[in-house]
Amino acid sequence: MLSDETVAVIGAGNIGRALIGGMISSELIDAEHVIATRRTASALDEMAEEFPGLRTTTDNVAAVQDASLILLTIKPQSRAEVITNIRDHVGRDVLVISVLAGITTERLQLGFGQDQPVIRAMPNTPALVDAGATALSAGTYATDEHLENAQSIFEAVGDAVVVPEEHMDAVTGLSGSGPAYVYMFIEALTDAGVKQGMSRTDASKLAAQTVYGAAKLAIDTGKHPAILRDEVTTPGGTAIAAVSSLEEHGLRTMLINAVGTATQRSEALNEE
Ligand SMILES: NC(=O)c1ccc[n+]([C@@H]2O[C@H](COP(=O)([O-])OP(=O)(O)OC[C@H]3O[C@@H](n4cnc5c(N)ncnc54)[C@H](OP(=O)(O)O)[C@@H]3O)[C@@H](O)[C@H]2O)c1
Repeated sequence: MLSDETVAVIGAGNIGRALIGGMISSELIDAEHVIATRRTASALDEMAEEFPGLRTTTDNVAAVQDASLILLTIKPQSRAEVITNIRDHVGRDVLVISVLAGITTERLQLGFGQDQPVIRAMPNTPALVDAGATALSAGTYATDEHLENAQSIFEAVGDAVVVPEEHMDAVTGLSGSGPAYVYMFIEALTDAGVKQGMSRTDASKLAAQTVYGAAKLAIDTGKHPAILRDEVTTPGGTAIAAVSSLEEHGLRTMLINAVGTATQRSEALNEE
């Protein structure tokens, strides 16, 4: 689908590298048509070795001059410096896809020039193992074809949905930041096993696999989580005793508030 494109990945760190790997391994694009940048030349050399044919450079301007599609995967803090540096070298018809947390399509359009086609994407780190969850929103000048191309890139590393942009800060709080909450859950579950006398190795393996398996069951069956939970809770049994304890301590409220706080932080990033 991207066979006619030349893609520049500006800031090929965790997310950028995952997207490069996904695009190449799913044969969305040949490695020769991708150019990756970051400031550390040795890290770029390693990437070029990992993906034979991939072009790399520490020069963002050189990278975008050739590109018909730009993936902006730098940190939000580097945004102003990088955009100022490249904007005059980006063609008006070039699609810019940004994964920068909190940065609106309006902000991106202002940065690149009012009529630039831009798409805001919010992936998450499971994209590193092709199990990412990404939400996408198109800017004013992005076409349906642009959106399809963007979706195909993120579907190469997991699942991708298009959402109204007003929901993007909530997405950042939910799935963008969500892996952090799940890791805390796995860690706590592991500690719980250790407290009951299990070895940390056994407890950690069972905790992670339980989270993975429960998520897979929810996705594969499409069943409501409450129904799946009911299937685990035997009357008078162990699971319902634990569920009652979690309810007593406000697990749901805690998560709802945590996502709310992350959403507010994402909103604030656009103003910085
Ligand atoms: N991590 C997440 O969970 C997650 C989830 C959703 C969205 N995001 C978004 O994804 C973006 C990247 O996150 P990440 O976790 O992939 O961060 P990362 O691993 O730190 O990647 C950012 C990369 O940008 C490079 N860089 C910094 N300044 C640069 C410059 N002037 N020119 C070219 N490259 C430059 C850095 O490499 P050098 O130091 O070698 O230059 C680094 O490899 C962020 O905007 C974040 O909001 C992240």
